[in-house]
Amino acid sequence: MLENHWYIACPSRKLKNQPLARELFGRKLVFFRDASGQAAALDDCCPHRNAPLSGGKVVGGCLTCPYHGWGFDGGGRLEKVPYAPGQPPACRTVSFDCVEQDGYVWVCPGGKTPETAPLDFPHLNLPGWTSFRMETLFHATVEACLENFLDCPHATHVHRYWFRTPTARPVKAEIRMLEDGAVTEYFQEPREKSLVWSLLSPGKTVSMRHTDRYIMPATSRVDYEFGDGRAYNITSSCTPVDDTHTRVFTVISFRRGWLGPLVRLFFHPLSRLIINQDVRMLDQTQENIERRGSAEFMALEQDVLFNPIREWRNALREGAPPPEAGRQWQVELKL
Ligand code: FES
Ligand SMILES: [Fe+2]
Repeated sequence: MLENHWYIACPSRKLKNQPLARELFGRKLVFFRDASGQAAALDDCCPHRNAPLSGGKVVGGCLTCPYHGWGFDGGGRLEKVPYAPGQPPACRTVSFDCVEQDGYVWVCPGGKTPETAPLDFPHLNLPGWTSFRMETLFHATVEACLENFLDCPHATHVHRYWFRTPTARPVKAEIRMLEDGAVTEYFQEPREKSLVWSLLSPGKTVSMRHTDRYIMPATSRVDYEFGDGRAYNITSSCTPVDDTHTRVFTVISFRRGWLGPLVRLFFHPLSRLIINQDVRMLDQTQENIERRGSAEFMALEQDVLFNPIREWRNALREGAPPPEAGRQWQVELKL
């Protein structure tokens, strides 16, 4: 069931006039642009003799197999067989729904077309906002990635001095189940003695609203809004590559007016560095899980979105009813 949703395959600008191979849910897909320039996705396996179509070329809008030159259109229909006269036989290889939105090529790896459009990145191209994008391959499951992106306590260890320095101050978190996921709002959150806070936060006297949101099936969204109008949004869309790898497409947007492009100059490499700290930590946790042969976890109530994410994704995986929206609880933690 998790397959029947939109996932990002690649940035639109990466899909030019050559085929592009991408793996999703352990299945190899090939992406290309058809005769009208539309993004198309096919099974990366030629029905003739199983050659990978991604090794071929796009000729006249048809994806041409590298082995004997059979050509397929964007819908997967066999259009030409170069060595057989007349019309090619009726043959269709598996194709997948594809759309382009927000500068990304999205694909539905399942057989059922999603009823809604892909989730949007809310602040891309908004006046006063500046954005940049990142793509990161994690050796980790989608769940592990989402939990990590929505997990405040790890930041005082993995990103100590860079993003969060422990103050041991009590912080209140309010968690609410939503129609499409779950959200945590934090109250009295400290912000001090870290590079990110000193560069990006307007000072402790200005009010701040911080929410962490899980949006099913595989998106995290972190929002900081300050009383002086500054705002930061980090949206990460997870694409499962296989059981143990996830490709994460992150858009970071912030409202800093004309200063935006200047802020981006240091914020972009800083974000890269911080994400790479997570890449290394999740790689080590996944290695341990693989060595042990099974994944076991303990979750405290302070691991605020761990259980909501699992509940949601297990329900989606099993086709069970989603967790009930509106359920709400509070937790005290120290950050
Ligand atoms: S294997 Fe693709 S054309 Fe023969
Ligand atoms: Fe992190």
